[in-house]
Amino acid sequence: MTIPDGSASKRRTYALGIVPGDGIGPEVTACAVGVLDAAERLFGFSTTRETIPAGARHYLATGELFEGAVREKLQAKDAILFGAMGDPAVAPGILERGFILAMRQAFDQAVNLRPVRLYPGVRTPIADLEPERCDLVIVRENTEGAYVGRGSTVHAGTANAVAVQESVNTRAGVERVVDYAFRLAAGRRNKVTLCHKTNILVEAGKLWQETFDAVAARYPGVETDYVHVDAMCFHLPVSPERFDVVVTDNLFGDIITDLGAVIQGGLGVAASANLNLDGSAPSMFEAIHGSAPDIAGRGLANPAGAVLSLAMCLAHLGEAAAAKAVETAVVAVLGQMDGLSGADMGGSTDEVGRRIVDALESAASGSLPPLAGRSVMDAMAAAER
Ligand SMILES: NC(=O)c1ccc[n+]([C@@H]2O[C@H](COP(=O)([O-])OP(=O)(O)OC[C@H]3O[C@@H](n4cnc5c(N)ncnc54)[C@H](O)[C@@H]3O)[C@@H](O)[C@H]2O)c1
Repeated sequence: MTIPDGSASKRRTYALGIVPGDGIGPEVTACAVGVLDAAERLFGFSTTRETIPAGARHYLATGELFEGAVREKLQAKDAILFGAMGDPAVAPGILERGFILAMRQAFDQAVNLRPVRLYPGVRTPIADLEPERCDLVIVRENTEGAYVGRGSTVHAGTANAVAVQESVNTRAGVERVVDYAFRLAAGRRNKVTLCHKTNILVEAGKLWQETFDAVAARYPGVETDYVHVDAMCFHLPVSPERFDVVVTDNLFGDIITDLGAVIQGGLGVAASANLNLDGSAPSMFEAIHGSAPDIAGRGLANPAGAVLSLAMCLAHLGEAAAAKAVETAVVAVLGQMDGLSGADMGGSTDEVGRRIVDALESAASGSLPPLAGRSVMDAMAAAER
């Protein structure tokens, strides 16, 4: 549910569902909640929170995924903070499909929004890339494409096995995310790039291109561009300044957003929002990394992605000042780190979280200057009208 900012009658208490999940999910979520505590105190809003048990241990004990009481509890919230899911004890896909994808579809979270911004002071593996050249947002269609879970296998397990995996693209589903991308661009640099594979996936590509062109006609002030997804893998690291808002299908978006995360410093710093656009169900906010079982429980995870996802949640709820201050605080702390994960962070996950809280206090008091340049938080507020 989006609540317009600046209204005298604006409700400033929000019901949050917290789903820490598996692996490093609980560690980074605890940091985000610590930052939320400070943000409430400093910016005068409040939340009621319910932590929902879900993930590998809960599934193994109860068999429950995204259904029944879990779904009902989350449906009643204004927004959801999500950690991560996935565990070696559960076969791949059960939790990821049975909970994460199921929630995105059931709550009609049409847009997966992924800022790709290289913050000042953050190391990138791309030589000579300056922060001024890397500030884009990827709008990934989030409920259709190859992720609808449709397909079949015949003669499974034999030499004659045939697997069919379907990609579903609807005009309505595509139009709503493309329109969101244009609204977002109107609050940024006024450029939208369609990323697809129209030369090979001609049926889906035609529907995407026609829809893109029809929506573009409603926004004559916004420049348009097209890039094939394979070419995008070249352009994104080499010339990210070409892009402002990129809109793409579910599978392509899944892949190029990880590339975007690498460019901006790694999985630990990348944030995302899964947005329900019509207020019929809560939106969900999560770092883009997974449960990282290789480092779980050792204080090695960078909580920045989870805390920046909290900032996007606050922007969505209409708490724009708090959202931008949280982003400023995270960036200040990232800029002081030698590296973005493990021992290179110069402190454990919890310690980094405490540094972000200290920086947030400085940002709120004005002693830490606001982050220069456009914030995706502003554009989100405008686009979610
Ligand atoms: N939305 C989600 O919950 C989500 C997303 C991706 C993967 N997964 C699941 O997570 C599990 C592990 O998947 P994976 O290993 O392919 O991806 P992953 O993102 O969990 O980890 C990939 C690599 O990045 C590192 N890493 C990830 N987050 C980090 C952080 N915050 N700080 C420092 N280093 C970090 C990990 O240590 C690992 O080396 C699988 O079960 C997968 O299906 C879940």
